[in-house]
Amino acid sequence: MPKPKVYATHPLFEEARKILDANCDIQYWGEPERPPREEVLRRVKDREALICLLTEKINDELLRAAPKLRIVSNVAVGFDNIDVDACTRRGVVATNTPGVLDETTADFTWTLLLAVARRLIEGEALARSGNWKGWNLDQLCGADVWGKTLGIVGFGRIGRAVARRASGFQMKVIYTDAVRASEDIERSVNAEFRDMNTLLTESDFISLHVPLLPETRGLFDAPKFFRMKPTAFLINTSRGPVVDEAALVAALENRKIAGAALDVYENEPFIHPGLKRPNVVLAPHLASASIETRSKMATMAANNVVALFKGQRPSNMLNPDIFKK
Ligand code: DGY
Repeated sequence: MPKPKVYATHPLFEEARKILDANCDIQYWGEPERPPREEVLRRVKDREALICLLTEKINDELLRAAPKLRIVSNVAVGFDNIDVDACTRRGVVATNTPGVLDETTADFTWTLLLAVARRLIEGEALARSGNWKGWNLDQLCGADVWGKTLGIVGFGRIGRAVARRASGFQMKVIYTDAVRASEDIERSVNAEFRDMNTLLTESDFISLHVPLLPETRGLFDAPKFFRMKPTAFLINTSRGPVVDEAALVAALENRKIAGAALDVYENEPFIHPGLKRPNVVLAPHLASASIETRSKMATMAANNVVALFKGQRPSNMLNPDIFKK
């Protein structure tokens, strides 16, 4: 049996490579920067599988350029870079990497939350600057985290993992979601349901964990910031376009909220200049970036490809209906 022809837009991690090298006729993009679009379109021409990152747009244009493609395996849980309907129409399986990055992403959400509340980045800059004159009573005082109210928007696996960590800080946890979680789940993470408007007015920290969908694009807009406490902070480790960045900048400028900590942006890698202010912590889309987790994501993506060519159903299919056709 000839091995399936696969193109991976990244060299991935060793464990994933072992799986792919053993089972596929594989080409990897090996440069440190992301491949230009034309390069991807050229490379996929004769490929039966594509392993891609969230930086690659998988749309009709790409699918047209890859007539032999049978699977697009995204090395990310978010899949707003993939036109799943277009894949389904062309009989191309689409997969993602759910589950393996929840705890790592939750850790980083807390990293951001603590950093912005306690002004870590400003403190670090002062400590390095050579200008620190020593301890002072009112120096870089931030906001307490412990005992406050954490509002979680989107109560899936990652939202719940963030909620679980709050008990160590003796926080009250409230959440909102399109679908209310079961009582068992609420009890297990000690969280109470609120409608969005109540969550906005009660929370001291609001953390976003919704996928990017038409109904969540621009979800956090001017009226939402207006409802938040002027002492509250917004944390976003979900997807940039969930927040209307211009409205966020206006809210920060007008002190409608106390600060923000962001890992994701509306037009990555562009960051709105109005966000580059002391009360905003900025990270370059790092929430799942631990070696262990990124390696697990790559391995999962590799296994999804190999499973399909072994005649199995990949575990993480985004368009399972494809097999019903
Ligand atoms: C994802 O997986 O969707 C993250 O944004 C990157 O890990």
